[in-house]
Amino acid sequence: MKEGPLLGKEVISYLDIKKDGFYIDATAGMGYLSEVILNELGADGALLMTDLDEDLCGILNENKLFREKRVMIENSSYTELPDVIKKRKLPKADGILFDFGVGTYQLNSDRGFSFMKDDFPDMRYSRRTGLRAWDVINSYPEKELADIIYKFGEERRSRRIAKRIAEARSNGSIDTVSRLAEIIKKCAPGGKIHPATKTFQALRIFVNGELENVEAAFSFLPEIMKPGARCVFLTFHSLEDRIVKNSLKKLASDGIINLLTKKAVKASYAQSRIQPRARSIRLRAAQII
Ligand SMILES: C[S@@+](CC[C@H](N)C(=O)[O-])C[C@H]1O[C@@H](n2cnc3c(N)ncnc32)[C@H](O)[C@@H]1O
Repeated sequence: MKEGPLLGKEVISYLDIKKDGFYIDATAGMGYLSEVILNELGADGALLMTDLDEDLCGILNENKLFREKRVMIENSSYTELPDVIKKRKLPKADGILFDFGVGTYQLNSDRGFSFMKDDFPDMRYSRRTGLRAWDVINSYPEKELADIIYKFGEERRSRRIAKRIAEARSNGSIDTVSRLAEIIKKCAPGGKIHPATKTFQALRIFVNGELENVEAAFSFLPEIMKPGARCVFLTFHSLEDRIVKNSLKKLASDGIINLLTKKAVKASYAQSRIQPRARSIRLRAAQII
C-alpha cells in the first residue's frame, strides 16, 4: 500500500481548495503536503511555501516539483508571514496549513535532533537563531535545566535527569547527542518510549521557542486571511495541541472564526500501523468569518 503524507486526505478536505485560490503552507518541510495542495490547485492558483530551515529551503528550491510559476518559496519563520505577504504584494489567502514541530528532514540531518545518531547537540531549525541545545545542557544551572525538561517535555523525572547532566558535564562538556542520551538512559531507564525522548523534545522546543511561535500564529491570522478562508493545524504533542485548541476557542468566542472540528481529528488505525508517528498527530481546522 502506498502511503501519502500523514492525514493528507483530511488536510485537503478541510482546506476545501479553490482551483484559482491562494494558499500558504506555513511549515513546508520536504513539501509532501505542498505537493498534495498543488495537485488540487488549478493553473491560476498559487502556493506560498515557508520554512525556517535554510538548508531545507535550498532543497525545496532545487526540487523540480516546486520550480513552477504557481509556487513561491520563502525561507522565514511563519511568525513573519504578515511582512512576507506585504513584501511580495500578495493578496489575503484562501487557506493556510501549519504542520508544527520537527520534520523528517531535521531528524535525518546531522544537527542533533535524533538520539539515534551521533551528532553535535545543536537542534536549531535555523542557524540564524543563537541558542543551541549544547549551550543549554552545558551551561544552564541545574534547576533551570530541570524546569525546561519538565515544562517542555512533561518529563516527571526532570530533576533526576538535570542532576545527572550537571554531574556529567563537570567531567567535560557534553558534545554528542549519544552521550546525552546515554546519561539520561542511566538515570531514567525506559518504558515504552526511549528514555531520552521527552528530554530531547524539551530541548528542541525551548531552543526554537516553538510554543511561543505556535501562539503567535493566531495573532495575525485575521490579518492575512480572507473571510471564508480555511486554516488547518497539525500538531504532534499535547503541549502544541493545547495551544491550538485554546487559541481557536478564543478566536471563536471573539467571533473571528468558526470551528470546523469540534474534537481533534486523529490518524486512522491503518495509518498509525504504517507510521508510528501518526499515533500522536492531531488535526484541528477553522474558517475565518
Ligand atoms: C513537521 S515538519 C513539516 C512537514 C511538511 N508538512 C511536509 O509535508 O514535509 C515542520 C517544519 O516546520 C519548520 N518550522 C519550525 N518552526 C518554524 C517556524 N517558526 N516557521 C516556519 N517553519 C518552521 C521546520 O523546519 C520543519 O521543516
